[in-house]
Amino acid sequence: MTNIRSIIRGCGAFLPERAVTNHELARRVDTSHEWIVQRTGIEQRHIAAEHETTSILGIKAAEAALANAGLTAKDIDLVVCATSTPDYTFPSTATLIQTGLGMTHGAAFDLQAVCTGFVYGVATADNFLRSGSHRRALVIGAETFSRILDWNDRTTCVLFGDGAGAIVLEAGSGAGTSEDRGVLSTQLRSDGRYRDKLYVDGGPGSTRTTGVLKMEGREVFRFAVGMVADVVEAAFAATGTTVEDLDWFVPHQANKRIITASAEKLGIPLEKVVITVDRHGNTSAASIPLALATAQADGRIKQGDLVMIEAIGGGFTWGSALLRW
Ligand code: ACO
Repeated sequence: MTNIRSIIRGCGAFLPERAVTNHELARRVDTSHEWIVQRTGIEQRHIAAEHETTSILGIKAAEAALANAGLTAKDIDLVVCATSTPDYTFPSTATLIQTGLGMTHGAAFDLQAVCTGFVYGVATADNFLRSGSHRRALVIGAETFSRILDWNDRTTCVLFGDGAGAIVLEAGSGAGTSEDRGVLSTQLRSDGRYRDKLYVDGGPGSTRTTGVLKMEGREVFRFAVGMVADVVEAAFAATGTTVEDLDWFVPHQANKRIITASAEKLGIPLEKVVITVDRHGNTSAASIPLALATAQADGRIKQGDLVMIEAIGGGFTWGSALLRW
């Protein structure tokens, strides 16, 4: 029996030109390069120019993914954009990206699961493709988190940055085993009881303002490693694979200490872990495709490799996807 599989055809990313170093931030708030690197591993973050909205970053990442796939926007019939920093309350950032790509066909919508947004996006597109309703999807994670930060709050403003990444998924066929190329398993979770640990204190339906990010960093850290292990182990169990089969672990790039502690708990050697948080900070939904694009471009991730992506984010939301590249 053949199964429909969502096969990864291409991957691309985009970072705004302006990089802001820790040293530059230390001139604005009471912090230091050493404190930020030691607690987070972050060395710099990219900040969007005034005219660069989330959709503009998303369009550039989508174009890079299409070029990498050897496809054009004509070939795409579904655009899913994961973002917590949409250009507007509506229309969706996905429809702005759709127009920016020159598409007047297909369906486009946004998806909001904060830092887990890209994993939720992969799971959503995978279900659309496997149902047979759509054939090729762009899954985009795009964010301008710099616009929801309190730039006087040193406990949050040093952690985040702007950027976008995208993959192209195409419906193909497989034998239904873990040797198939494509999305092999997705595991999604949420628990809204934790909303106060990580949230934005505004929104159209509550304050009619955008609000700024608030976080109990130590509390988020405390939950993070356990949540990562939960969804990663569930993905292995669902596919009959083990940590030994894994070629690459590509976690949400929030904090190097969370990444290394998670890898250690799961028994994944650090040589198999893709870390890019040092270069762009936490870009929320964009961080996993940014890391995937980096590791594919530098030759680490190759066709046939088994790749685990995972993330945790506000809500809390958390999730994983096991991919055969
Ligand atoms: N520079 C210098 N000192 C600082 C800074 C800073 N930027 N920020 C906080 N401090 C101070 C605090 O005020 C505190 O001082 P005090 O002891 O005098 O009160 C001290 O440093 C220690 O603060 P903690 O918050 O306990 O520091 P901790 O070691 O927990 O590190 C951090 C903070 C980096 C935020 C850590 O808790 C963390 O990484 N948490 C996870 C956050 C995260 O990854 N969130 C995103 C995940 S979900 C998503 O991606 C949306």
